[in-house]
Amino acid sequence: MADLANPNGVPRHVAVIMDGNGRWAAARGLPRSAGHKQGVEALRRAVRAAAELGVEYLTIYSFSSENWSRPVAEVTFLLDLLRRFIRKDVADLHQAGVRISVIGERDGLDPGIVAQLEEAEIMTCDNTGLRLVVAFNYGSRQEITRAAQTVARKVAEGKIAVSDITPAVLANHLDTGGIPDPDLLIRTGGEQRLSNYLLWQCAYTEFVFVPEYWPDFSAEVLRRAIAEYQSRERRFGGIKAQSA
Ligand code: FPP
Repeated sequence: MADLANPNGVPRHVAVIMDGNGRWAAARGLPRSAGHKQGVEALRRAVRAAAELGVEYLTIYSFSSENWSRPVAEVTFLLDLLRRFIRKDVADLHQAGVRISVIGERDGLDPGIVAQLEEAEIMTCDNTGLRLVVAFNYGSRQEITRAAQTVARKVAEGKIAVSDITPAVLANHLDTGGIPDPDLLIRTGGEQRLSNYLLWQCAYTEFVFVPEYWPDFSAEVLRRAIAEYQSRERRFGGIKAQSA
């Protein structure tokens, strides 16, 4: 069980790969869309549970740069679900003090969706509760490439010197600039890979892979993942304090 007095404490930033919607639906003889729909319910539970436990940042992988390769009908359904989620849930999230931020590539997206996402960010920007970071049209390699392009442009314009480029400078040019790195990454659905998610940011993140499909995600699953996180020894490349 999550222990609030544990030295690792409650992870400040939890990143989630919400996987297994399709398999959850298939196991019930339902279309994949039914799994995605239940996935929205699970997301609502996750936000509530994370806020209650004192998590400060919750980053969710809602749609990857690679998800465009799915059948058109599924892509359309997922985009529609996001639109409806923003339309229906933002007022409640705002009421609950949640601040919404969106990471990912916005160029080339439907302007209607971009406007909705930006409205949600603006409406909630002064909130001080949980920060819900929605990774949409997100791919980590693409994000790092865009950051490198921005930094290169600044060098070409004489705004910064090559020798000024540090990991911190590059990190600040990522979509997650200003957001601390995730302490804990949870992937549901049993698979154990990062799938182009937060590659830079997860350098020292603890990974917990849980077998539950995303639609079955609950406060209990989150608490168990946090308990697993708390059992880990985080050394950040150093050595155990007492063995020095
Ligand atoms: C992975 O399951 C899930 C996704 C690609 C989409 C995640 C979207 C949701 C959870 C819907 C709610 C989100 C928002 C922001 C409205 P999968 O389809 O890859 O499942 P599978 O691995 O079993 O096929």
